[in-house]
Amino acid sequence: MTAQLDLIIMAAGKGTRMKSRYPKVLQKLAGRALLQHVLDQAAQLQARSAVVVTGHGAAQVEAAIAGAQSATAGFDLKFVRQEPQLGTGHAVQQAVPALAGDGVAIVLSGDVPLTQADTLQGLLDAAGQDKMALLTVTMDDPTGYGRIVRNAAGTVQRIVEQKDASEAERAITEIYSGIMAVPVKHLTQWLSRLNNDNAQGEYYLTDIVAMAVADGVPVVGHRISDVLQVAGVNSPLQLAELERAHQLRVAKALMEQGVRLADPARLDLRDDVRGAKADLRCGQDVDIDVGCIFTGKVEIGDGAQIGAYCHISNARIAAGAVIHPFTHIDGEQAGASVGEGALIGPFARLRPGAQLGREVHIGNFVEVKNSTLADGAKANHLAYLGDATVGERVNYGAGSITANYDGANKHRTVIEADVHIGSNCVLVAPVTIGAGGTVGGGSTITKSTEPGALSVARGKQISISNWTRPAKQPKA
Ligand code: UD1
Ligand code: CA
Repeated sequence: MTAQLDLIIMAAGKGTRMKSRYPKVLQKLAGRALLQHVLDQAAQLQARSAVVVTGHGAAQVEAAIAGAQSATAGFDLKFVRQEPQLGTGHAVQQAVPALAGDGVAIVLSGDVPLTQADTLQGLLDAAGQDKMALLTVTMDDPTGYGRIVRNAAGTVQRIVEQKDASEAERAITEIYSGIMAVPVKHLTQWLSRLNNDNAQGEYYLTDIVAMAVADGVPVVGHRISDVLQVAGVNSPLQLAELERAHQLRVAKALMEQGVRLADPARLDLRDDVRGAKADLRCGQDVDIDVGCIFTGKVEIGDGAQIGAYCHISNARIAAGAVIHPFTHIDGEQAGASVGEGALIGPFARLRPGAQLGREVHIGNFVEVKNSTLADGAKANHLAYLGDATVGERVNYGAGSITANYDGANKHRTVIEADVHIGSNCVLVAPVTIGAGGTVGGGSTITKSTEPGALSVARGKQISISNWTRPAKQPKA
């Protein structure tokens, strides 16, 4: 039987070096708060509860996380406040009363976002029901970290903090990651015996290791080699470094599924601005060029190609579609979809509710919002289609727009199948252009037209023969 799991997440620190108005644990990696990354692991580990220790910016942290979490919960989320912050041992002391009292707790930090769930599972397995397990790594330069002190037989004896370490202890390269698994009944007992008699005058959580040894509770050092998994965020530079490391990991996973990325170092997947989780699903033989950003839920069908520097959010791209460079697609909540074999861009913009059929062509500087374009419809240059229903094979000329907004309300434009809209037309909604009709270039159409009709609505051209332009008078 495996023990019940609770997480204790320390998130009270200020994060001074971020030089930000926002609490550090709310800084974003891949569009998601650092603390949220840590909580996501709780869901994967089937934790019973997670207790977050807040301090600096507590109200902000609690509001941001409680709101985001409600959708994905599956475990009991609690917040406790640590005021003032007297060290990591003191932080965990605040959390313990919120725990059930049995089972095993994993102690984590809210600013260490890239620990993998299987690493934590390994740590948990090492702890079993009644041992303490410390996640450790070996670093070329261990400066600043707590060192793992082992005896001659290699058994962990204690952790010594940098500032309290002797010369010989500072030479130890195996460090404590800040993550441990510990049976709660022991933890509670040991915490009550902590003191702050050390170089920093803090209550060190790490002091409980020596207590475990003294009480005959086995302490296991669970060493991993991937330093990124225990790396914390203290500065904008470290945040950016972990962002790239995370993105590279995502890119490699996609490539393992067969997605062809022109450069795995130049891909970004993020949660969207409303918090919809980054989720890119690709079919077979998908090519993605450099510099693309995918946010929220994006599906890309077999053989589709995404050109350089596209930003695609909450959208479905069907098989064989080609999205040319610099295209911006954002379906927001309504979604956007591109049909099979469609050609989009370069420099196209698809907004919420853009639903494009098979082999639709959308060219440069064309904006489509809340509009359906049936199979084979084309709008190739400099145009706007908003709140429109566009039939099959319609050709929509350069510079034409739907005037869908009268200043108060939005109205629909219906363009039936096989219509040809010339260049520079204004279709003033509500209006319907009958099937097979033609609208002459430069027309402002305010009344619906009959199927098959040619409609022209513009000033009539006049031409005056042999016109002599005014000439400059010679100076007197
Ligand atoms: C801690 C460990 C050290 C380990 C290192 C790994 C202790 C005494 N030392 O050191 O052995 O190598 O992490 O990164 O535990 N926090 C609170 N309340 C506090 C103090 C800290 O919530 O009163 C939070 C911080 O916000 C942070 C985490 O705990 O998320 C770790 O605190 P930090 O000050 O970074 O610990 P270190 O001194 O680096
Ligand atoms: Ca630290």
